[in-house]
Amino acid sequence: MSEKAKLTLGDKTIELPVFEGTEGEKAIDITKLRAETGYVTIDSGYMNTGACTSNITFLDGEKGILKYRGYGIEELAEKSTFTEVSSLVINGKLPSSDELKTFEQRIANHSSIPTALQTMIKAFPNNAHPMGVLSSNLAALSAFYPDLLAQDLTGPQKDEVIIQLMGQIKVLATYAHRHSQGQGFIQSDKTLDYCSDFIHMMTGKAVDKEVAKALDILLILHVDHEQNCSTSTVRMVGSSKANPFATVSAGVDALWGPLHGGANQAVLEMLEEIHKEGIGYKEFLTRVKDKNSSSRLMGFGHRVYKNFDPRAKIIKVACDSVLAKLGVKDPLLDIARGLEEVALQDPYFVERKLYPNVDFYSGIIYRALGIPTNMFTVMFALGRLPGWMAQWKEMLETPGFKICRPRQIYTGEVNKKLSR
Ligand code: SDX
Repeated sequence: MSEKAKLTLGDKTIELPVFEGTEGEKAIDITKLRAETGYVTIDSGYMNTGACTSNITFLDGEKGILKYRGYGIEELAEKSTFTEVSSLVINGKLPSSDELKTFEQRIANHSSIPTALQTMIKAFPNNAHPMGVLSSNLAALSAFYPDLLAQDLTGPQKDEVIIQLMGQIKVLATYAHRHSQGQGFIQSDKTLDYCSDFIHMMTGKAVDKEVAKALDILLILHVDHEQNCSTSTVRMVGSSKANPFATVSAGVDALWGPLHGGANQAVLEMLEEIHKEGIGYKEFLTRVKDKNSSSRLMGFGHRVYKNFDPRAKIIKVACDSVLAKLGVKDPLLDIARGLEEVALQDPYFVERKLYPNVDFYSGIIYRALGIPTNMFTVMFALGRLPGWMAQWKEMLETPGFKICRPRQIYTGEVNKKLSR
């Protein structure tokens, strides 16, 4: 007999079905709650609320587990590639070698943008934040593909626009960077793999294989992460059947925030502040623990992980290896290591289960790879795009899916009258 939840309100008791996922997670299904009781639930920040079911990603915050389509992140980071993982997440199964080759060729064929957008990018001031350039140009792509503004895209149209966006986000990201440096754009080179092509389009130089491999691992680690803020935004916007360009642009905007994807840039700025001020990391942590201070230990803490973020563990190892291979000595890495060592033993962080998250070390690797700080969140968007689009596709293909429209409880003025 399937489990039920009993809810008693006054003299009325109702039973609510319990839903169990394939990894043993349980949810109380409140679909009928308002119809049967007139009550709704309230859950600020959705701390306890599941927005959907999904077959794409599973994470266990207590155990520090992350899996894409059932495959552990550790194995994928060690043995797979960003494009193979993207195909797995989007299509639900690992591609054969021929399917992967076709997938990569299709991305390469879409690695260009309309000339008008190249002009638009050049119209931005050089100091424009690349996330703003990226988000606005992603939305502006909608002006060039009228067929994709249709309310109901076909399966093949959805599959094609996802691949198109994987190619074009790479171009928009590198063009935004080159423009910010006052440099000309570099066309995509179809003979290069995704990460090597990205690096070449950023630098115009021959690509170091170690650098390309390190970037590939970083992008794999960022591909998807359940219903995080930006993915939930993609689902929210996509649920109104907005076109895919507007939908992914909204995801970029949500990711930009320093509490979310913008944290990798904020971590580097925090480390640079500590380094420049010459304050010890212990003194900085004292500031962080002071309730009157606005300082936060950026790159620490997570809504779900109350143990180590498995991605942070992988990135930390990659960080040591990449810096050693590149012969880079970075004083900020020493500060980061010191902060982590002290914080992991400090009751303030231990009691609140605050551990390093994916953003704590990623910026140090990006910096070692020569990627400027203001491009770090763009790198996060590059990695997360396949996850966003896989979730968007899954939502639209869910039978009977509905537009997202949460309820609220009104707490404002009542019965006001105009005094005229
Ligand atoms: C990402 O959701 C995802 O999956 C996101 C992500 C993904 O892949 O999509 O994993 C990527 O966004 C990772 C998180 C990156 N953000 C940061 O590193 C910014 C710093 N961390 C936080 O601001 C915070 O930890 C959050 C936003 C990540 C989580 O915040 P919550 O779950 O809303 O928790 P909270 O802010 O209510 O904090 C609980 C307590 C508070 O103290 P008390 O009021 O209980 O005394 O912990 C404290 C907070 O002040 N706290 C921190 C802290 N994070 C939480 N104190 C100091 N430094 C921090 N970083």
